[in-house]
Amino acid sequence: MRLSSLLGLLGLGFLASAAHLPRRDYEKQDYYVLHLDPAIPPSEVAIKLGLTHEGQLGELADHHIFSTEKQEEDVVHTALKERRRKRSLGDWDVLDGVKFAQKQKVKARMEKRGVIPPRPEGLPSPVAEREDTADPAAVERQTLVAKRLGIEDPIFNEQWHLFNPIQVGHDVNVTDVWLQGITGFNATVAIVDDGLDMYSDDLKDNYFAEGSYDFNDNSLEPKPRLTDDRHGTRCAGEVSAVKNNVCGVGVAYDSKVAGIRILSKLISDADEAVAMNYAYQRNQIYSCSWGPPDDGRTMDAPGILIRKAMLNAVQNGRDGKGSIYVFASGNGASNDDNCNFDGYTNSIYSITVGAVDRKGLHPYYSEKCSAQLVVTYSSGSNDAIHTTDVGTNACYNGHGGTSAAAPLAAGIFALVLQIRPDLTWRDMQYLVMQTAVPINLDSGDWQQTSIGKHFSHTFGYGKIDSWATIEAAKTFEHVKPQAWYYSPWIHVNQDIPQGNDGLAVSFEVTEDMLKEANLERLEHVTVTMNVEHGRRGDLSVDLVSPDRVISHLSATRKFDTSNAGYNDWTFMSVVHWGESGIGTWTIVVKDTIVNEFNGTFIDWHLKLWGESIDPAKAVPLAMPEEHEDDNHDEVIATTTITGTTQAVTPAPTSSDLASNPSDYPDRPVKTKPTETPTETEAETTPSSTSTEEEAASTSTSSSWLPSFFPTFGVSSKTQIWIYGAAGLILAFCIGLGVYLYLARRKRLRNNPRDEWEFDLLDEDEAENLNGQGRAVGAKQGGRRRAGELYDAFAAGSEDESEGEAEYLDEGGEGEKMLYDDDEEEEEGHHVIGEDEDEEEEAEEAAEGRNEKGQK
Ligand SMILES: *[C@@H]1O[C@H](CO)[C@@H](O)[C@H](O)[C@H]1NC(C)=O
Ligand SMILES: *[C@@H]1O[C@H](CO)[C@@H](O)[C@H](O)[C@H]1NC(C)=O
Ligand SMILES: *[C@@H]1O[C@H](CO)[C@@H](O)[C@H](O)[C@H]1NC(C)=O
Repeated sequence: MRLSSLLGLLGLGFLASAAHLPRRDYEKQDYYVLHLDPAIPPSEVAIKLGLTHEGQLGELADHHIFSTEKQEEDVVHTALKERRRKRSLGDWDVLDGVKFAQKQKVKARMEKRGVIPPRPEGLPSPVAEREDTADPAAVERQTLVAKRLGIEDPIFNEQWHLFNPIQVGHDVNVTDVWLQGITGFNATVAIVDDGLDMYSDDLKDNYFAEGSYDFNDNSLEPKPRLTDDRHGTRCAGEVSAVKNNVCGVGVAYDSKVAGIRILSKLISDADEAVAMNYAYQRNQIYSCSWGPPDDGRTMDAPGILIRKAMLNAVQNGRDGKGSIYVFASGNGASNDDNCNFDGYTNSIYSITVGAVDRKGLHPYYSEKCSAQLVVTYSSGSNDAIHTTDVGTNACYNGHGGTSAAAPLAAGIFALVLQIRPDLTWRDMQYLVMQTAVPINLDSGDWQQTSIGKHFSHTFGYGKIDSWATIEAAKTFEHVKPQAWYYSPWIHVNQDIPQGNDGLAVSFEVTEDMLKEANLERLEHVTVTMNVEHGRRGDLSVDLVSPDRVISHLSATRKFDTSNAGYNDWTFMSVVHWGESGIGTWTIVVKDTIVNEFNGTFIDWHLKLWGESIDPAKAVPLAMPEEHEDDNHDEVIATTTITGTTQAVTPAPTSSDLASNPSDYPDRPVKTKPTETPTETEAETTPSSTSTEEEAASTSTSSSWLPSFFPTFGVSSKTQIWIYGAAGLILAFCIGLGVYLYLARRKRLRNNPRDEWEFDLLDEDEAENLNGQGRAVGAKQGGRRRAGELYDAFAAGSEDESEGEAEYLDEGGEGEKMLYDDDEEEEEGHHVIGEDEDEEEEAEEAAEGRNEKGQK
């Protein structure tokens, strides 16, 4: 018997997994991951199946990895099928304790996000407006700060992202944080990447060996081995380059940095699951500057084992406070890619970070999406991030893409954890959301959220301001545990009309539903959906909350020719943070490209995630199951079984749904975050769920419909609206059935824009963004920028040009930077020259734009 099996038998499996990990050989061996009933000894399963038990799978309880000689057949699948056939015979078999089995295969390679698709061709070159004259006062301040902190690093003055004396204010605003002695002491960031040069003079003193591992070459040292293995070291330098006489400093230059090497060879889901939990009591933050290809046609999410590992990390990592995952949003914006097509960046467990350049502009590569929380500095406007490189004393001045933004954010979070190691993974997300500073407000896609924050799909809640984040962290009060509400599957099965109208489907969330779910206020919203379509890239999806804040869950993608549609795909939004969630949620699926490809909206499923009402009733989320979203008819039963909903006690009946709004006079008042929108109470309460419910189910509906639905830019009289109001009805025992109220067709009048409920943002408002600003919904039905935002995306041909202008707004000077390293030809070079461009130029350019191979 192997040592690991013995330890496993003795319940000491953690010792086995803490030891040097078993070497994997995908050429000669097959590997299987089995989830076993805890009562079943893995050794017996191994004997029964003729496999070798390799030990527990990382930190995943009851998950074990087994190996055998390579063969075509999935021997475990065959054995389990055989066993299932005989199960009716009655006798017990060890295989009955196998809950899940998966043969491992090497997964599609994740791409580093320092590799940026070329700047779109055909862009006219704007005259480079070089503003390289430093502000003398800023230079003086920079010199003074360096002196006071004893920074003598030779390229510190080039590290504009830390202190920018040219575009003053366009940096992470960290120096006053350092001067308070907050430099990352006692905080640890793991760089999950292609290695980390632990022998670099700029990194070795901060290198954290205990948290490091090489999953590609099975070694304790994640040393860069391929000529291409430079990305991780550069990211590590941004976080934790030592304050010494080599290159520059990291933003958290006294933090520890670990390397977890996974990108240099193909690995399996099992390996990645182990990597994502590696040393998760000691590594606090996992910085991930990679993901599925940013080619604008990929739609890829982490496999079930990796998703389990990420949930395990937020539940059990860092002593239960949760690992902090930071992901780069992706570099595919010029390919129309969107970070909601990437299951890592749209995970609720990751903080998704996009890029902004040294002028505060949106770089053409940085992807937008409703799951992006924040942005920070990276390449663009003729410069990039200056950091450490592979070698004992090597620097690099061309680090860029969203790859360079994520570690910078991770380093700032390390500063936070120095003073507040007690913050949970959700506390960190609140802190980041609350303290982000909106920028580039004239870009036209900002909307005010119902808690008075501003959100842009391009910039998230804004850029990170280290000083503001640290100040808020000092007094941050923990949020209560997580709770969630899952709607039933809402069946639609309607063709999606082509053109700008789309198909809108509503679902009513009542106060009772959320009370039963113990859910007080929202953080993340996810929508899992199925759409069949001949050309996926033609589709776009918007979600409109009861507060009429809009998430663009999906946007059209010109290169996405797949006919696979959306297949149980989950989109995520952070746009509704702080809302109550009570009221009508409307999803609008559009097929704006009029062509021979059409499609059908099959069904969808809304999940609201947020802070619990009563922490004592909060329970940890159950581990995801591979097919948990598959059974679209018995969803309630499924969620009950997996314990993933707290909303299983008294189900609202249809009569509850129609009861009087005055039955709920004491709707919980949100007390956090600080921007408590007492004003919104007045606004949301009257639009009570039951009133709308009644309206929807009777012919009086016209009294409320026109005021709301014209915001979709309805222009066709043939448009179909479906009102799906689904409620839960009590079945027997714990069984719950789905009550679906559905399918209503309605014709709407063409409503002129001046009847919209949405006000356009005026200049005063724009200038007031940072303060408490203006009362939300100060006048009845008065609505902020949402209309404008929606308009920008929705309007027919304007849509095209505005969208393009957005992506191309930097123009294309194309001036290349000079690099210290002559050999560095491989990444980021063609992307660094740019300048703000005129919209017309961008449009013009867009016409001549070709598809670019990314790699
Ligand atoms: C930057 O930090 C300073 C303190 O050093 C603070 O006063 C300021 O508000 C912060 N933010 C900005 C955007 O300047
Ligand atoms: C370092 O972190 C540990 C764990 O969070 C904490 O117990 C300890 O007090 C910290 N030490 C310092 C010097 O802050
Ligand atoms: C979609 O296209 C197919 C083939 O062109 C056609 O038969 C079908 O009627 C179309 N459906 C809708 C809803 O337009």
